[in-house]
Amino acid sequence: MKQALEKIELSAKEELKKIRDSKELEALRIRFLGKKGELTTVLKGMATLSSEERPVIGQLANRVRSDIENAVEERAKELKKAAFELKLKEEKLDVTLPGKAPKLGKLHPLDSVMREIEDIFIGMGFDIASGPEVEYDYYNFEALNLPPDHPARDTQDTFYISDKILLRTQTSPVQIRVMEQKKPPIRIVAPGRVYRSDAVDATHSPLFHQIEGLVVDKGITMGDLVGTLDMLMKRLYGVECRIRLRPHHFPFTEPSAEVDMVCFNCGGKGCSMCKGEGYVELLGSGMVHPKVLANCGIDPEEYSGFAFGLGLERLVMRKYGVTDLRLLYENDLRFLEQF
Ligand code: DAH
Repeated sequence: MKQALEKIELSAKEELKKIRDSKELEALRIRFLGKKGELTTVLKGMATLSSEERPVIGQLANRVRSDIENAVEERAKELKKAAFELKLKEEKLDVTLPGKAPKLGKLHPLDSVMREIEDIFIGMGFDIASGPEVEYDYYNFEALNLPPDHPARDTQDTFYISDKILLRTQTSPVQIRVMEQKKPPIRIVAPGRVYRSDAVDATHSPLFHQIEGLVVDKGITMGDLVGTLDMLMKRLYGVECRIRLRPHHFPFTEPSAEVDMVCFNCGGKGCSMCKGEGYVELLGSGMVHPKVLANCGIDPEEYSGFAFGLGLERLVMRKYGVTDLRLLYENDLRFLEQF
């Protein structure tokens, strides 16, 4: 019996080493120490022992029991510690790692420059106005002093929807809509999309953007036009940016002028980029034609005004040195991420 008890102790300690989790440990405890366990089974034979042997074996049995109990408890602690360490290892968090920055979107260069220009005009006391892209022929042409069969209509290849309705070829119709709604003083800019039936190439697109400007009040002169545009260009490109006016013709302004800005590349001396001119074309402008004012119910004897129409794409291309207009519409991230 002594041997049987010692064998139980030995095998319990051996088995304990192989235990890997608390479930296995509990099974082992029951196997050795449970009511029907190996130790109990052996102790049932106590009755057959002599009265001298009984206390000796009894003592041994008690020691074996408490040894196994202690060993089980010890193993339980070890398993708990190992499980905790594993958890620590698995859930390790290195707070010194550089963070993963979320990818932020940004404005398309056409939008950001458009907003920059809007902000500059808002700073000069202008309001932002808008009008429909599907427009009446009347607003796009007729009210702007371009009656049917006027030859200047041919210079703007128009998408007609019906005889009287078209896709606006310019933002100038917003001038008419504003003047019909509001009496002077008027100070607005109207940014937006315009459409012309042009084939796509490096400098043409059937859809592009313009920013229209209109100021009507008592005593407005060409000097106000020059001052306003000069301020715009200096804010956009820096104080060294100069503009110049060239006589031109637009049906809705009299007199009319094309406004050029000094060539970035040569600063006005003349180079291949400006074709020797020293200046590059910027926009169309002029003093609002008296007939246009009258078409909107504004007395040209009392009021005068200036207007201009600026091509956004051209400005963006010049600002960033983009040489192909198509890049602005292709949504190629390799291009757009540069801005
Ligand atoms: N609408 C003209 C165009 O698209 C540009 C323009 C010229 C607008 C003179 C104006 C202006 O307001 O006064 O070519």
